[in-house]
Amino acid sequence: MIYDDYKEYLSPVLAKATDLVVESAKGCYIKDVNGNEYLDFVQGIAVNALGHCHPKIVKAICDQTEKLITGSFNLVNYPSTLKLAKELAKITPGELNVTFFSNGGSEANDGAIKLVRNYTHRPGIIAFRGSFHGRTLGATSITSSNSKYRKNYEPLVPSVYFTPYPTCYRCPYNTTEDQCSLDCLQELQRIFDYLIPPENVAAVIMEPIMGEGGYVVPPKKYVAAIRELCSKHGILLVFDEIQSGYGRTGKWFASEHFDVVPDVMTVGKAMAGGLPMSAIVSTKEIMETWKPGMHGTTFGGHPVCAAAGLAVLEAFQEEKVLENCNIQGTYLKEKLLALKEEYAVIGDVRGLGLMVAVEFVNLDKSPSSAALDKVKGYCLEHGLLTLSCGVYGNGFRFATPLNIKREDLDKGLGIFEAALKTI
Ligand SMILES: Cc1ncc(COP(=O)(O)O)c(C=O)c1O
Repeated sequence: MIYDDYKEYLSPVLAKATDLVVESAKGCYIKDVNGNEYLDFVQGIAVNALGHCHPKIVKAICDQTEKLITGSFNLVNYPSTLKLAKELAKITPGELNVTFFSNGGSEANDGAIKLVRNYTHRPGIIAFRGSFHGRTLGATSITSSNSKYRKNYEPLVPSVYFTPYPTCYRCPYNTTEDQCSLDCLQELQRIFDYLIPPENVAAVIMEPIMGEGGYVVPPKKYVAAIRELCSKHGILLVFDEIQSGYGRTGKWFASEHFDVVPDVMTVGKAMAGGLPMSAIVSTKEIMETWKPGMHGTTFGGHPVCAAAGLAVLEAFQEEKVLENCNIQGTYLKEKLLALKEEYAVIGDVRGLGLMVAVEFVNLDKSPSSAALDKVKGYCLEHGLLTLSCGVYGNGFRFATPLNIKREDLDKGLGIFEAALKTI
C-alpha cells in the first residue's frame, strides 16, 4: 500500500490510536482508503459538533475561499471575523464580550496566561491536578493529566501550583457529594498558606468539566466556592472551555451549569466546524489592558475559519442542536447507567449533555485499563471509533456529534454493549 512507509516521514511523538488512513466522511461516519466505514464517536476529539462535512459549513468554507483566503488579521479586517466576534458575544456568559482569536486550544491558553499576568501584575497561576490544557510550553506548564506530558521539559513556566480537582467518584475524604463539606478546597487554602499568598496569584485556571482527565463534573458548590475565593482575593478565574464549551454539555458553555461566570474563557475545538480556530474571551476592562502588540498571531481570526464559525452558529440555531444534545445526552446516560447495573466492570457513568464517559474498574474499584483496551479494540474491529481518557487510561469517552440521530447512537451503544459481553 502506498501509505505503508509513512512512519519514516512523521515524528513518532504524535501518539496514534489507530493506523487508519481515512479519506472521506459525512455526519457520523468516516471512511478509510480501503472503503471501510466507521461510526465515528471521536469526531476529531469533540471538534465536529455538527458531524463531518456539514453541508452548511462546507458551503461557507468554499464561498469564503473563492473570495479571500487570508490577508492577515494584523493588517486588515474581514467581514466574516468581525461578524463572528459579534455573534460570539451573544452566546458568551456575562460581560465576556471581547475576543482575541487564535488557532488552537494550547495557544489560547498560553495567551490567557499572558493576559492574566499582564492584568494583575502577579506571577502565580493555580491549576488543577488532572487537568489538560495543551502542548505548548505555557499550556504544558499548567497541565497535569499525565506526567508523560511534562517529562523532560523542565524547567516549565514558573509559579504554577496544582490543587486537586474535585473528583467525587474517587473522593480522598471518602464522602459523598451530598454530604461533601468541600474538604478538597482546603488544599487550595494550604497553597495560599504555605506556598504563595493569594495576593501574588494572577489566576485560577480550571476546566469547568474535566476533559482528557476523565470527564469529571465537579460539585456545583465547589465551583461557586472557587468563584468566591477568586473574587475575594482579586484573582482572575479562567475557564478552559475548549472541550466543554460550544454546546457539548447541552448549554453553550459548561459554566452555565454552575451559574458561575469566569473572568476569562478559552474556547476552541468546535468553533469552526473542523477548521483550526480558538479564542480568548474576556471583559472589556481586562482586554483593554492588553495593549497593541503585546500578543499577536499570523493566522488567528482567519476569514475562512470565521466563515465556518458563522455557519456553525447558524446551524446550531436552525437545527436546534442544543436541544438535541440534551435529549440524546440524557438517553445516552440512561442507557449507560442501565449497563452499569449489569456489568460490574463499569464503575462510574458521568458527564453532562453529550460529554459523557464511562470509567472501567476492577472488582476492588481500581482502574482497569485492560478492560478499556479490550472494549476499544472490539469497537474498532466492529466499526466504531472511540476515545479514552483519564490518567490510568480506563475512561471511555463518548464524543459524538451534538446533532447525532437516535439510530446512530443506538448503533454505537449496540457495539459498545457487545464489547462489554466479551469481558
Ligand atoms: C480542555 C482542553 N484544553 C486545551 C486543549 C488543547 O487544545 P489543542 O490541542 O487545540 O491545542 C484541549 C485538547 O484536547 C483540551 O481538551
